[in-house]
Amino acid sequence: MTTSFAPEIDLIPQLQCETDTGIATLPLSQEVSFRSWQQSIPQEYWDLGAEELVARIRAARAALGTRVVVLGHHYQREDIIQFADERGDSFALAQYAAERPEAEYIVFCGVHFMAEAADILCAPHQQVILPNVEAGCSMADMASDPDVRSAWRELGDYFGGTDDIIPVTYMNSAASLKAFCGEHGGVVCTSSNARQVLEWAFARGKRVFFFPDQHLGRNTADAMGIPLEEMALWNWRGPAGRLGGLAGEQLDRARVILWQGHCSVHQRFSVTQIEAARKQFPGVQIVVHPECRYDVVQAADANGSTAYIARYVEQAPAGSIIGIGTEINLVSRLAKEHPDKTIFCLDPVVCPCSTMYRVHPAYLAWVMEGLVRGEVHNRIEVPAETKRYAKIALERMLALK
Ligand code: 13P
Ligand code: SF4
Repeated sequence: MTTSFAPEIDLIPQLQCETDTGIATLPLSQEVSFRSWQQSIPQEYWDLGAEELVARIRAARAALGTRVVVLGHHYQREDIIQFADERGDSFALAQYAAERPEAEYIVFCGVHFMAEAADILCAPHQQVILPNVEAGCSMADMASDPDVRSAWRELGDYFGGTDDIIPVTYMNSAASLKAFCGEHGGVVCTSSNARQVLEWAFARGKRVFFFPDQHLGRNTADAMGIPLEEMALWNWRGPAGRLGGLAGEQLDRARVILWQGHCSVHQRFSVTQIEAARKQFPGVQIVVHPECRYDVVQAADANGSTAYIARYVEQAPAGSIIGIGTEINLVSRLAKEHPDKTIFCLDPVVCPCSTMYRVHPAYLAWVMEGLVRGEVHNRIEVPAETKRYAKIALERMLALK
């Protein structure tokens, strides 16, 4: 992983995180981040070293054959990605899950909302498993079902109805919010299709209510030519009944109402980092995820989903220098896979997405060995009624070409 940083940048040792210095798998009991608040699994898994874990996961895989498919999001650590039948962004993995009816079990190495989306899309005989149930997403947690429904009621009261408002939820949200969108003429989007989804929404309504990521919403609307003055930011932390802290005239001119949510990993990237990279490496290309702030996306050369970033690096000519604004596991992998290019993370002390990181190989070994014995651990099952409406919103998205 050392090649992921510009060689001149010295890391401050106290700020380094485990993935900055190497990808060696440590037993679960020795990983600092696992010392508190993790799903408890049998003691025997806590002290297993890398070799034993790899051997046991491989043996379980071989025993299960095509009955299991392992999916790995781009932000998963290397010691998990090595077992993935398919790696991809959240959109590609949702599609993949929907297209593998032969697999009885889908082991989703990612975070909770991704496993829920797979459960919504896959066939009734399939079971989706999230190796560590504590692998959530702090951004998804910023939009709770009651908060969104109460905001929707307030918007309806203010505008005299919601017929003209289309709710759009980012994939990074709870299944209940996807269901809310399905029920109210809305749709789901991911970072790889947000623009197409907003175009779909504006063909059906005058305003869009976008949650939970303000940055993806703002960056996408801006790319469509919607002025910033026509976007309003709904503060869900304030007391209910106060229109998200917005004045009437702000709401009247708003074409996009953005939920005040963000990703703590992507919010770390700054224009100062981009300026420093451009100074240090004249000719550097900067590519960032659209969950980054508006000014960061404006200052970058390109922005797109994790799959887009991977493609951007692959297609760049040998000798290219590319500074990336996204999660460190993906940046490090791209650096390793493209030794003919200089790939580095814009933030020299960026830490991994701490929830993605919770999927340690010990958890994967535990769920896989359980399946061999016929025991299903950590099944993610969306309630039937939620599933019905969430599927409508997801299928509207998948139907867009
Ligand atoms: P992608 O949809 O680009 O895979 O991103 C998911 C995510 O969680 C980004 O933080
Ligand atoms: Fe959620 Fe951010 Fe982690 Fe993506 S990187 S899973 S948005 S916390």
